Amino acid sequence: MRKLKLSLIFALCFLILFVSAGYAEEIHVAVIGKSVHPYWAEVELGVKKAAEDLGVKATFFVPQKEDIQAQISQMESFIAMGVDGIAIAPSDPTALAPTIATAMSKGIPVITLDTDAPESERLAYIGTDNYSAGKLAGQVMSQLLGPEGGKVAIGTGSLTAMNSLERMRGFTDGIAENENIVVVTKPALCDFEDTGRAVTLVEQALLTYPDLKGFFGVYAINGPAAAKAIKTAGKVGEVLVVCFDTTAEHMQLIKEGAIAATIGQRPYMMGYKSVELLSKMVADGVDAALAELPEDRIVDTGVDVVAADAYVETLRVLEADSVEEYREKLIGLGIPVEGW
Ligand code: BGC
Repeated sequence: MRKLKLSLIFALCFLILFVSAGYAEEIHVAVIGKSVHPYWAEVELGVKKAAEDLGVKATFFVPQKEDIQAQISQMESFIAMGVDGIAIAPSDPTALAPTIATAMSKGIPVITLDTDAPESERLAYIGTDNYSAGKLAGQVMSQLLGPEGGKVAIGTGSLTAMNSLERMRGFTDGIAENENIVVVTKPALCDFEDTGRAVTLVEQALLTYPDLKGFFGVYAINGPAAAKAIKTAGKVGEVLVVCFDTTAEHMQLIKEGAIAATIGQRPYMMGYKSVELLSKMVADGVDAALAELPEDRIVDTGVDVVAADAYVETLRVLEADSVEEYREKLIGLGIPVEGW
């Protein structure tokens, strides 16, 4: 009898421990990103941490580079496997919409992260407000080039993903305040997130426009690619790079002054919050999870402007941080800082 009591107490303690550490039943969510890149490694870090904190299973997948078909196939596999929820960063919102609809019709909640598909049946979006962030990048460029302005080229990894299109639309509005800035690349140079191609395109642009004054790198891949080509051409300080993201490579190039300023997104948070929201949808029901979100079901993870020492004072009007200030901010937000 005493033995039975003891084992009952043990079982109860175990249950309490298990439940307080996370969800009692195994929940399996999947996150689909866009490319093999340190940016996505940061998203994955957030995904893994949330899975650990909540006691759920999370599977992370990225295609080698921008690959709409690979995203569709992977999403179909996850649906066939019967995962409980999916977060996806659609490389093409129109192409992914039918697969999102299929998942939803099978009772698998779908949300977007990093880049949205608002016309699809997705339930919510977690990531940057890309129009505003693009506009901020335009204002940064305008502030850096000053009233004389000059020619600016734009490089991106996608001409279909909404985040890329929204950033470029915002950038155009951000530089509109300075009529002497002329964008020379129409459409933008597109590398489909292929690093080698990204560098070649910048090298070609430097030859085509010897008087280029600025380069706007839309994706994480573009800023470092531009900085590399500009360094090789001996034009650091002559062609100013304004870009997105803060991987260790970006931070190194900012310290060198080869990148003048960058818009730092919060990829770790995107990964973490996606797993958190999907798990809540599965455990408590979609309506209960959505009730905790803003009415438009958009979770803005926020951005920061980070500038090289030579430009940080000029950019204080746009609330720029130096590398060191930025590091402190991230630590304060509980975001791991690695490799810089
Ligand atoms: C974008 C992602 C992209 C990544 C890598 C980021 O700025 O938000 O959509 O995949 O760069 O290039």
